[in-house]
This record gives sequence, C-alpha cells and structure tokens, in this order.
Amino acid sequence: MYYEKYITMNIKGKNAIVTGGGRGLGKAVALALANEGVNVAITGRNEENLKNTVEEIRNTGVNTAYAVFSMDDESEVKAGIESLAGQLGGVDILINNAGIGDFGTIEEMPSETWEQVIKTNLFGVYYAAKAVHPFLKAKGEGDIVNVASTAGLKGGPNMSAYAASKAAVVSLSQSMMAEWRKQNIRVITLTPSTIASDMSIQGGLTDGNPDKVLQPEDFAEWVRDILKMNRRALIANGSIFSTNP
Ligand SMILES: NC(=O)c1ccc[n+]([C@@H]2O[C@H](COP(=O)([O-])OP(=O)(O)OC[C@H]3O[C@@H](n4cnc5c(N)ncnc54)[C@H](OP(=O)(O)O)[C@@H]3O)[C@@H](O)[C@H]2O)c1
Repeated sequence: MYYEKYITMNIKGKNAIVTGGGRGLGKAVALALANEGVNVAITGRNEENLKNTVEEIRNTGVNTAYAVFSMDDESEVKAGIESLAGQLGGVDILINNAGIGDFGTIEEMPSETWEQVIKTNLFGVYYAAKAVHPFLKAKGEGDIVNVASTAGLKGGPNMSAYAASKAAVVSLSQSMMAEWRKQNIRVITLTPSTIASDMSIQGGLTDGNPDKVLQPEDFAEWVRDILKMNRRALIANGSIFSTNP
C-alpha cells in the first residue's frame, strides 16, 4: 500500500549520544528521543545539569548515562564517547550539538577566545564524529546530526569566530556526508536560526518570547522527525527559522 511504503521508522530501542545534552537544544533533543523510546546518553562539562537531565530521561523509561568532558580535548572526547557506548551497549545516533557562542568585534575579542570558539565548535564536532564513526561503521548504519547555524551560511558583525566555526562545521559535515553515506550512515547538517536558550538570550540575540521565537522543543521535534524518516531518505541540509519573531 502507498502509505505503508512511506511510513516513518520506529526508532525505539536505538542508542543515541547527545553532546551538550545537559541544557538548551541538546537537552530538548535528548528528551524528545527518550520519549520515542531511544536510550540516550548525554555529555557536557556541568555535572549537575547532566545529573538532573539524566533523571528526566530515566523517568521516560529508557536507559541513560552521562559523561563529563570538554569538547576541545580529543582524548577526553574519545574516552567519554567510548565509555557511553559501552554503557548503552552501542551507538546508533550522534547528535553533535555542544557549542559555545562568544560574540564580539574582531578588534576586541581576545585571540584566545577566538581560538577557543573554533576549538570547541569545529574540533569538538570532528572529535565526536570520529569517535562515534567506528561504532556506526561496525553496525552497518547510523545517523550523525551536526548542529551548525545560519551564522555558518553568512557572517555578520560581532560573530567572526562563531560564524567561521559554524561555516567550517557545515563544510566538515558535508564532507562527512559524502564519505559515509556509502556506509549507510546519514550525516545531517542543520543550520538553525535563533532559538531561545542560554546562548541566544545571554548573547542578546533574542528575548526568547515563546509566542514568537523558536523554542528548543521545536528544534527537538524537527530532529526527531528527520531521524524517523525511512533510512533510504537523507535530509542532507536543513534550516529552521521563527516565522515572525
Ligand atoms: N540557540 C540558538 O539560537 C542556536 C542557533 C543556531 C545554532 N545553535 C547551536 O546549537 C547548539 C546548542 O546551543 P544552545 O543554544 O543549546 O546553547 P547553550 O544553551 O549555551 O548550551 C550549550 C551546550 O553546549 C555544551 N558545551 C559548551 N561548550 C562545551 C565544551 N567545551 N565542552 C563540552 N560541552 C560544551 C554545554 O554544556 P555544559 O554547560 O555542561 O558545558 C551546553 O549543554 C550549539 O552548537 C549552538 O551553536 C544555537
């Protein structure tokens, strides 16, 4: 039947790792996946946030775990991902979400801050994907969602480090997609616009008004629905905007 041919996948029982899953967009995605029956492990630097979010994930009835590490250190990322994969019993999905948004002019931003943004946002995505890839390759399929930004599509004032990091994530992610689709790994590059979170509210990008401005839950539903598409379908790139903020 036509409908049966196009029905979405059940992702219950899959194992996901969400970097930066203790708060913001990552937390919303972690909970949306847990509510689909996906076992979800989360990472970050703030252990208290991670513990609280793990508690919420556990209440949905799935397996969960967390690891504390910084995305800018390759050996920590690798060890953390491998530990979580061991605790979950494998990995099917990586949500490469952790990132920092430091904003300021080129003249004023210290070089160290500029470098740290690139190290966290670009190298972190690379380290995590590289650490997860062997698990997906061994399984013969998997999904990696790389969270870039509309800032990666076009630079602007006060965001040189952030925009450059996200432009590089777009490019890295597209290269990953081209290399790994032949292994049945779907690499999905997302470029969301402003969404209410600590990053965007503290960065003065939005007031986060839920009547008008995208919320983390909107982003999470979108990611969940992309992952539920039949495996023959790959959303390679996608943007999401508030309709009329
Ligand atoms: N909100 C937006 O408007 C927007 C728009 C486009 C794209 N994005 C992207 O979406 C992602 C999530 O952003 P968000 O809005 O949820 O930001 P957020 O509320 O500031 O959360 C950032 C997350 O990243 C983690 N993180 C940051 N630096 C890290 C590091 N060095 N090592 C490990 N974890 C680190 C944080 O965990 P800890 O605090 O535990 O370290 C936290 O979970 C980011 O990649 C961001 O660039 C956001």
